[in-house]
Amino acid sequence: MAKKVAIVTGSGRGIGLGIALKIAKDLDLNIVVVDIDDATMADAVKQIKALGKDAIAVKCDVSNGTDVENMVKKAFEFGDVDVVVNNAGITRDAMMLKMEEKDFDLVININLKAIWFICKAVCARWVATAKAKAEAAAPKPATPPAPGAKPEEAKFEPSFYPKKRIINISSIVAKVGNVGQTNYTASKAGVIAMTKSIAKEMSRYNINANCIQPGFIKTPMTDKMPEKQIQRFIAEIPLARMGLPEDIARAVKFLASEDSDYITGISLEVAGGLNM
Ligand SMILES: NC(=O)c1ccc[n+]([C@@H]2O[C@H](COP(=O)([O-])OP(=O)(O)OC[C@H]3O[C@@H](n4cnc5c(N)ncnc54)[C@H](O)[C@@H]3O)[C@@H](O)[C@H]2O)c1
Repeated sequence: MAKKVAIVTGSGRGIGLGIALKIAKDLDLNIVVVDIDDATMADAVKQIKALGKDAIAVKCDVSNGTDVENMVKKAFEFGDVDVVVNNAGITRDAMMLKMEEKDFDLVININLKAIWFICKAVCARWVATAKAKAEAAAPKPATPPAPGAKPEEAKFEPSFYPKKRIINISSIVAKVGNVGQTNYTASKAGVIAMTKSIAKEMSRYNINANCIQPGFIKTPMTDKMPEKQIQRFIAEIPLARMGLPEDIARAVKFLASEDSDYITGISLEVAGGLNM
């Protein structure tokens, strides 16, 4: 039997690495580490292998459709892709009046459009496999259809197909907006709406799609913020601490496991109560 695989984008470091390690270990998954940084990817693969799971690094700019198609092809060659975690994301902050169009477009392309590229490429393969299985399992008519008659379509029911799962990483700021982040907040709100549409379109193939909205998480992305600003943010968090990649990874584990089989189209806030 082919090995069970999860694609995790942006898993060279930060939240993505935390997710990759957690689901590899706890859900017995092999990981396709997707990133643009060779050095961090190599280190992530080493860490996953140290857990006794298999992993490959696939360099891919998720905002590039050709890169994505190659990456997804390699992932399906590596094993049976069951889970996709769209985590790669960037910020290019500036006040709206000063923000340049290139920075608006870059953030939308990496944080939002990339998820559409990946979900489209992965779901196309999942659906093709599901259809082939349904057709193979469909009872054959005793007599062939009359000349010119349309052959009966194979019947689709979600329970025919193995459960597949998409988890997209949004942000708590999608809910409330944020100064200096017109591009980022728009991209992250778009991720939630798009995930709900994907959930509706794909449910008939037993594909669940959900989001997570992290709050303020300690990673290289937030490490570059001034200490004063970090403390100001922490003061607003009811649970009075920054989150850790592990906090997000635990929620991803839930949405990637059979414990969430009947959950699709939701967005789960993992933010220590921030912006309740
Ligand atoms: N850290 C937070 O407080 C926080 C809060 C809410 C949401 N998020 C979201 O969580 C996700 C991970 O954030 P993080 O804090 O770990 O960030 P990070 O900057 O530490 O890691 C992001 C990873 O994505 C990779 N990446 C960037 N552009 C890419 C591209 N075009 N193609 C492939 N990979 C690319 C980077 O190389 C890096 O390894 C992001 O989507 C971010 O928006 C983070």
